[in-house]
Amino acid sequence: MPVPPRAATPALLQIDAIVARLAGRAALAEVCRFVRHSFPHYRWVGVYRRDGDVLVLDGWDGPAPTEHTRIPVDRGVCGRAVREERTVIVDDVRSAPEYLACFLETRAEIVVPIRDGTAVIGEIDIDGNEVRAFDASDRSFLESVAPRLTAAVRAAAAEPPLD
Ligand code: SME
Repeated sequence: MPVPPRAATPALLQIDAIVARLAGRAALAEVCRFVRHSFPHYRWVGVYRRDGDVLVLDGWDGPAPTEHTRIPVDRGVCGRAVREERTVIVDDVRSAPEYLACFLETRAEIVVPIRDGTAVIGEIDIDGNEVRAFDASDRSFLESVAPRLTAAVRAAAAEPPLD
């Protein structure tokens, strides 16, 4: 089930409210929690921040943590979206050679860049458990979510490192 058009606008308003109330990593974690619980085909939701040549996981929500809390930009579907500066949808992770496995159940992935001006400073990364879990409605919705997270990603960069 993709994002129903009538669900997108209320969800974006909720996200506006979250980023008005919270900042930095706290805001990113709450947005991840909110979108995962709003759209059941989003099985794991994370936000990575670009720190030089590494993507650092700054917020996530899902049934289990990922071992990939730091991803070099030359690796993974996550790295590809940053290098190509565009949304990447993988219909079936078994046919994406660069895919870094986190969860056995994952079959599809969508990664959407977060920009500050023209620079890509981070990304939203979502795993799905069905082949072709994500379509144009997810792309459109998440490309509207991404700019709402720019300030929170910028603020997270100023917070003390997690490790
Ligand atoms: N699958 C990603 C790694 C992150 S996990 O999905 C949380 C990738 O290939 O970059």
